[in-house]
Amino acid sequence: MEKYSAVIVGGGSIRNPDLMAMLANHKDQFPLKKLVLFDNNAEQNEPMGKYGEILVREYYPELEEYTWTCDPDVAFKDMDVAFCQIRAGLMEMRREDEHIPAAHGCVGQETCGAGGMAYGLRSVPDIIEIVKMIRERSPECWILNYSNPAAIVAEATKRVFPDDYRIMNICDMPIAIMDRYGEIMGCTRNDFEPRYFGLNHFGWFTHVYDKKTGEDLMPEIKRRLIDAKFGQGDEEHTMEASWIETYNFMGKMLKDYPEYLPNTYLKYYLYPRHVVEGQDPNHTRADEILEWKAPRIHNMVNEVIKLGKIKGTPYELKPENGVHASYIVELANSILHNENRIFLIITKNNGTVPNLDPDMMLEVACRVGINGAEPLSMEPVGTFYKGLLENQYAYEKLTVDALFERDKGKLLQALTLNRTVGDTELAKEILDDLIDANEKFWGKYFK
Ligand code: G6P
Ligand code: MN
Repeated sequence: MEKYSAVIVGGGSIRNPDLMAMLANHKDQFPLKKLVLFDNNAEQNEPMGKYGEILVREYYPELEEYTWTCDPDVAFKDMDVAFCQIRAGLMEMRREDEHIPAAHGCVGQETCGAGGMAYGLRSVPDIIEIVKMIRERSPECWILNYSNPAAIVAEATKRVFPDDYRIMNICDMPIAIMDRYGEIMGCTRNDFEPRYFGLNHFGWFTHVYDKKTGEDLMPEIKRRLIDAKFGQGDEEHTMEASWIETYNFMGKMLKDYPEYLPNTYLKYYLYPRHVVEGQDPNHTRADEILEWKAPRIHNMVNEVIKLGKIKGTPYELKPENGVHASYIVELANSILHNENRIFLIITKNNGTVPNLDPDMMLEVACRVGINGAEPLSMEPVGTFYKGLLENQYAYEKLTVDALFERDKGKLLQALTLNRTVGDTELAKEILDDLIDANEKFWGKYFK
């Protein structure tokens, strides 16, 4: 079998141990000859790089070359796949993105609402630079980008690299949701073939077919989802409390809007009052991660480096990994082996949903193979969805326009359109605070 070269962009990410474990677990289906961790932050990249070295030695000796670097020439030459998972501004800025809107009584979330806008304005320039660095050195490399906020990032990459079908913007949320459907249906997400439409973190499943029989399981999933209680009575359950709440809320949304199965993120747009009432403006998801999730992973990484081994320690790799990593490897496989399996990809509408803007970056079911993502066409969407999507897409477009044109007026328009803000004076106040907090990033252009 042909062997591939892969680079992980955002090498210092706390998601990397899982991704590297996944690559090792899948070495038979997706064999690599070379793996590089790239990060512009040497301090974050170094420990991950050293951890990876031990992982590779013990679990992936077939790998011919492994390294970590801040040098684009080392990272991006002759690459087949780039896994991009950057976080511009790191967790410290995620905290600002969440706290600032929350302090104004709005949804404080990393990708939705005002925080998502601030994050998008930081991410876009970095992603564009990364794509350019990769393209200069590996014109045919597949760039699998799951950097957030994916909706805004995808809108920007579409504009800057309109013909580059080897950039694929993706998200694991629908996959994680399908895992939940698997739980209540007594099977796994690999038994499903979904149909879905929307913008990233803003969409609905319209069908969930049984892969073998073709039967649409959605009616039964709906029946079971309404009262489903996730994360209970399962000792092994790894879900965190805030995620359990989020998954359980799918049933509530379904009661109010029974037509389709909602993405969890619709909670923020359709129930902002509920979200705001339940959030602590001084302690958001970023704080949870900074307080225990990130330290846990950093400790594990440091311990492994100290011990010089993973096998025979409490940190042994499990044969199963988190959803985030597994999805990415499955996608890379489908592309490079031309399997043409169905994935939900963020791609230009182009008539896939006939009554939506052809330029809209839709998240839809696509067949994915060596020639890229081919969307499966959908029925026109109803008035409710059309209204929501056009409003949200206008917000996303204006955010990208504002950045490219350095137009503060458009930022105000974008925020006012965003369902989690909705009021001009409020938008101005939040915007001023976001500009100050992002002074080192995009804030300086809008003073
Ligand atoms: C899901 C979304 C990602 C998001 C992540 C946040 O996986 O699809 O886009 O980054 O959740 O999870 P966290 O644990 O960082 O709050
Ligand atoms: Mn996502």
